[in-house]
Amino acid sequence: MTRTGEPAGADAGAIEISGLHKSFGANEVLRGIDFRVDAGEVVCVIGPSGSGKSTLLRCVNLLEEPSAGTVRVAGAEVTDPDVDIDAVRRRIGMVFQSFNLFPHLTALGNVAVAQRKVLRRGKRDAERIARENLERVGLADKVGAYPAQLSGGQQQRVAIARALAMGPEVMLFDEPTSALDPELVGDVLGVMRGLAEAGMTMLVVTHEMSFAREVADRVAFMDGGVIVEQGEAARMVTDPDHERTREFLSRVLDPAAARVQGGER
Ligand SMILES: Nc1ncnc2c1ncn2[C@@H]1O[C@H](COP(=O)(O)OP(=O)(O)OP(=O)(O)O)[C@@H](O)[C@H]1O
Ligand SMILES: [Mg+2]
Repeated sequence: MTRTGEPAGADAGAIEISGLHKSFGANEVLRGIDFRVDAGEVVCVIGPSGSGKSTLLRCVNLLEEPSAGTVRVAGAEVTDPDVDIDAVRRRIGMVFQSFNLFPHLTALGNVAVAQRKVLRRGKRDAERIARENLERVGLADKVGAYPAQLSGGQQQRVAIARALAMGPEVMLFDEPTSALDPELVGDVLGVMRGLAEAGMTMLVVTHEMSFAREVADRVAFMDGGVIVEQGEAARMVTDPDHERTREFLSRVLDPAAARVQGGER
């Protein structure tokens, strides 16, 4: 749906995964993944614990080395043994469940430091870009705050600003809201929705089904190291083809439905 008539050569997806396998010792965690995300597309990956979602994301930016298969990001094969991995990682922003901010640096310092070290930006440029991105995530008034002075949701937004400041072509999110108190989840999802609307290519592992339904173009369900099915977000959440997907959804959707229906208790 986001696929447009691009000039020749631009048919390459933003992320193209083919025949991807990953084993840890005898444990085959990814068992043949073929998957693509087009430029500007937002895809949510859902699935039970241990199904390989994080491993899939980590193979995209080579935090894990695939056992077999290829991964291309923005046309560059990251699994090419001769690849400049640092150059590849610069094109891929990653946001984890834990924010991993430096406690001794302010929000501004946290967003500036990787730009200076990895991109060799000068202090002034790095700080200007840090401010712009902190503003983008709604933290213009927190540039001078240290992580301990920020809520979990604010810290996660600093982490998103830090990834954005590197100018990535795709953003990977691994359960970015699952460590947050419920009342802080909305701000982070709001920032992610803004990024999606601005056309960022995003691959998001999440249990937030309302986000998946409303923001994602596509939802992929993983189980046992394979993508069991994928499809248009609203249909996948309400009317999936596979029984395993239905079972999973009923488990993650019912508590939420119960909360909504039950109202304040
Ligand atoms: N570095 C590692 N060494 C050994 N085994 C690992 C490693 N990382 C992951 N695994 C195993 O791979 C399997 C898939 O893990 P993964 O973290 O990808 O699952 P997940 O779908 O992200 O689960 P969750 O929803 O709990 O985050 C698990 O059985 C896990 O124990
Ligand atoms: Mg995981």
